[in-house]
Amino acid sequence: MLFKQQVLLRQKLFVLGSLAIGSLLYLVARVGSLDRLQPLCPIDGRFGPRSQDEIPLRALQFKRGLLHEFRKGNATKEQIRLHNLVQQLPKAIIIGVRKGGTRALLEMLNLHPAVVKASQEIHFFDNDENYAKGIEWYRKKMPFSYPHQITIEKSPAYFITEEVPERIYKMNSSIKLLIIVREPTTRAISDYTQVLEGKERKNKTYYKFEKLAIDPNTCEVNTKYKAVRTSIYTKHLERWLKYFPIEQFHIVDGDRLITEPLPELQLVEKFLNLPPRISQYNLYFNATRGFYCLRFNIVFNKCLAGSKGRIHPEVDTSVITKLRKFFHPFNQKFYQ
Ligand code: A3P
Repeated sequence: MLFKQQVLLRQKLFVLGSLAIGSLLYLVARVGSLDRLQPLCPIDGRFGPRSQDEIPLRALQFKRGLLHEFRKGNATKEQIRLHNLVQQLPKAIIIGVRKGGTRALLEMLNLHPAVVKASQEIHFFDNDENYAKGIEWYRKKMPFSYPHQITIEKSPAYFITEEVPERIYKMNSSIKLLIIVREPTTRAISDYTQVLEGKERKNKTYYKFEKLAIDPNTCEVNTKYKAVRTSIYTKHLERWLKYFPIEQFHIVDGDRLITEPLPELQLVEKFLNLPPRISQYNLYFNATRGFYCLRFNIVFNKCLAGSKGRIHPEVDTSVITKLRKFFHPFNQKFYQ
């Protein structure tokens, strides 16, 4: 009896032992084969070679994708070469005006499949140190694009900086120039609000708008105040017109871009000789933000950063009236 139990126990141990060894052998074999497995999404596969008739669709698909990957350091130089991507000098520049809606305009134009934006303000023509680095430095700051696309950059300081028109003219005398303006008093208050926010962030105090905009000695509009000077659009435009004919400018109504962006964008498409591609589908009103936001496709949409669309401080109505009266003749001239 005892002998029979010992035999059964030995048989059980044998079966368990065989199972354990079998599992171990399977695991060793599996781990050994792991580094031979193909990655699920090899980067070369993602950006594989294209056929000629695929270009427009791919341009759309990769407009964000490949350029985005490249900025993140995920796309190789080889992929850039394979897709014939280039860094092109801008064919159009949004030269200003600061707080006119320059960011909204650039981002909205970037909805167009043939437009590629330079995300950062490059400040090449208004900054002497940057300008001294030369045109190749500027070109290298441009995003990658397909040769059929146009690059657009925006640096609002260009509009008011003395040297800029001549410098841009030297780069490309037939460049297209976009200026976005808002009602000048609102723009000046928006400008003030931005500076005020900067001061508050640094725990600094700042003057009230009224004190800066009105000269306390004369009780007249203080034309030395930069936010006021920037809003005298015609003065700045005169300098530009010494270099470029009026046909090379397009003025965007920044107030209308806020309330009704599509018609303004369609006018810009026309000015840039682009086929109309931006549609109402690309723009939706976001009630929480109180502004239009951008819809690129079914999955990707975005609103502008919170620094766009600040709440302005309340300004004395008599100061607003005085400023509006002051700007009126300059505005008349500007629109003429
Ligand atoms: P406020 O912050 O005074 O409202 P810029 O980009 O040139 O600095 O201009 C900023 C202004 O763009 C904002 O000024 C805002 O009114 C305007 N703007 C126009 N369209 C906008 C949008 N869709 N989203 C947010 N701001 C927009």
